[in-house]
Amino acid sequence: MTTNAKKGRIFSGMRPSGRLHLGNHIGALQNWVNLQQEYECIYCAVDIHALTDSASKDATSQIKPNIYEMVLDWLAAGVDPEKSIIFVQSHVREVVILHGILSMFTPMGWLMRVPTFKEKLRQLDATEHTVSYGLVGYPVLMTADIILYKADTVPVGEDQLPHLELAREIVRRFNHLFGPTFPEPKAKLTTYPLVVGLDGQSKMSKSLDNHIELAASPEDTTKKVMKAVTDPNRKFLSDPGRPEVCNVFALHKYFNPDKVDQIHQQCTSASIGCVQDKQLLAKGINDKLNDLRERRQELASKKGLVEEILMDGAAKAQTIARETLGQVMERLGLA
Ligand code: AMP
Ligand code: TRP
Repeated sequence: MTTNAKKGRIFSGMRPSGRLHLGNHIGALQNWVNLQQEYECIYCAVDIHALTDSASKDATSQIKPNIYEMVLDWLAAGVDPEKSIIFVQSHVREVVILHGILSMFTPMGWLMRVPTFKEKLRQLDATEHTVSYGLVGYPVLMTADIILYKADTVPVGEDQLPHLELAREIVRRFNHLFGPTFPEPKAKLTTYPLVVGLDGQSKMSKSLDNHIELAASPEDTTKKVMKAVTDPNRKFLSDPGRPEVCNVFALHKYFNPDKVDQIHQQCTSASIGCVQDKQLLAKGINDKLNDLRERRQELASKKGLVEEILMDGAAKAQTIARETLGQVMERLGLA
């Protein structure tokens, strides 16, 4: 990987919760793949972050198999270990030290204000008193991930923007206190940074079971699409649809870009029904993902491949991490 001709350095991570869904792909992974040409890229399976969801032995024992499934999706989508560093967060332990250091300069008020934190409290039915210390510090660890590698650009979905805002605040504070050390990381969004789930209610997510797996079979994909909620006002075939409120239509934009104008016209004039419309979407998804799914199967048959890529990636990441942490210790006067 050469630095000279590149625009900058990218870092991004995903929590290993198993196979990815269409939202992960359209909202983030697409960019991971495309940006490899222009940037130096580092991609990380953030297993320590995954512990915030997994407070039992049963749950933590799923993390390693989940890393494997997720990394297969990355590779099948086109993340290339020849171009990018691909590694597991806990394999480069400098991040935990940097997280500890940053936590000394991060006011609690900043963390309590993060909208994703408040939302998580509601989801867990927890309060500031019962929630784990680690969950409060989730975005501090995320900041440590990014700045340990001095990344300036972070490709993520829209839901991660508040975390990046906080990362920039922490960086500004560190640079102010100890001298310019880290670039302020900027988010990079795709054209579709928020993919709505099949329920049409909230963002596509595994925990809400409103998703389609990237690696699903064509049959499963079709079955799930056929159950998707469309415009709730369209009760009869003769009712004109409202594509702007329909999540099936939103997915057409990505999976059937050349048919999208025609579908819009047919839906609003009630010349196509929701069933036929969904069949078109299922076909669009299956056609577009066919190569990726085949590649995934091929990669899965290569024993030891993922493990080897991750080992190699950790060695490369660690060289950068050691250098940054050495510099941080010097700046703090601790070296
Ligand atoms: P997660 O699985 O929540 O760790 O997300 C991994 C990446 O996918 C992050 O960059 C998220 O912002 C992105 N992502 C997750 N769900 C969606 C969605 N429904 N729409 C767009 N991006 C998403
Ligand atoms: N918080 C991110 C998510 O839930 C995962 C993540 C951890 C991350 N560290 C990161 C993303 C660093 C970008 C950069 O999806």
